[in-house]
Amino acid sequence: HKNNVNSVPLSSPASNVAPVLADIDWDNIGFGLTPTDYMYIMKCSQGEKFSKGELQRFGNIELSPSAGVLNYGQGLFEGLKAYRKKDGKILLFRPEENALRLRMGAERMCMPSPTVEQFVEAVKLSVVANEKWIPPPGKGSLYIRPLLMGSGAVLGLAPAPEYTFLIFVSPVGNYFREGLAPINLIVETEMHRATPGGTGGVKTIGNYAAVLKAQSAAKAKGYSDVLYLDSVHKKYLEEVSSCNVFVVKGNLISTPAIQGTILPGITRKSILDVACSQGFQVEERLVTVDELLDADEVFCTGTAVVVSPVGSITYLNKRVSYGREGVGRVSQQLYTALTSLQMGIAEDKMGWIMEI
Ligand code: COI
Repeated sequence: HKNNVNSVPLSSPASNVAPVLADIDWDNIGFGLTPTDYMYIMKCSQGEKFSKGELQRFGNIELSPSAGVLNYGQGLFEGLKAYRKKDGKILLFRPEENALRLRMGAERMCMPSPTVEQFVEAVKLSVVANEKWIPPPGKGSLYIRPLLMGSGAVLGLAPAPEYTFLIFVSPVGNYFREGLAPINLIVETEMHRATPGGTGGVKTIGNYAAVLKAQSAAKAKGYSDVLYLDSVHKKYLEEVSSCNVFVVKGNLISTPAIQGTILPGITRKSILDVACSQGFQVEERLVTVDELLDADEVFCTGTAVVVSPVGSITYLNKRVSYGREGVGRVSQQLYTALTSLQMGIAEDKMGWIMEI
């Protein structure tokens, strides 16, 4: 790979050389920011194309108080992970999918976006430059957070005159405090995450600020997170604050269909394919909240949460429990299948893994 910053260390060429690792407690990384060494930055003006970016030391960035992203929320983010394999190889999972989703979102938010090639190249550079921050095998992953924002100054409401594409990375472990133990959700009946015609289907930053209130209230009551319903009928499942949701009944695995209000998760899509290849029947459709009552298992998927089993769901003061507090058989099977692929333990028959 090309590397346009001379001072950035490249990956060790021989796999028999012990990798250099950052000096942190690898057994206790949760999902918080650990500042790393480098970040990637690329800028362009409105009406132009992104052309050349570069690695810089990780640190604060300067923005006009009038930046489009700060005033009117013109911003998108992505999330993907790099894993370190036992043999020293570094693996990315379907980075082109993140690039394509960012491009879709950029179109909705009136922003220029990097090409798929530029995106993937920038991800690779960011990972290699921060190689020592990739957790050892089995201890977690390097979470990669691309941002696309209107960084130019505006005052009247309009697309910003300048855009910044930035990637920073951080080593991460489990997302939920529960670790891999089942999480407890509450169905939100008043507030909604998204509305038809809105931006629920793109990864814009405002979607995530919009769920903080319901999420905080749920956490204060001891729940792990919130499950949202559709805003029109208030009876169809949408998603959890930071992940998609699946319902298992017998051999059938169902998840809410993508109709503009649900984030098209890459883990969601991958789990549908993995489940199908393992002989499950899979359906993307309207899933009613009542179906939670007689489901065998419920689980969530996302880059950050991976596959998280749900132990209970509370809806209108009624609590339904799954798997007697243990991890359900199907959730466990799909978690293992997906993570074995991502970590390079299972053979990649899907062609989803990119070696750096
Ligand atoms: C991810 O799963 O990567 C996300 O982007 C969700 C985020 C709220 C952590």
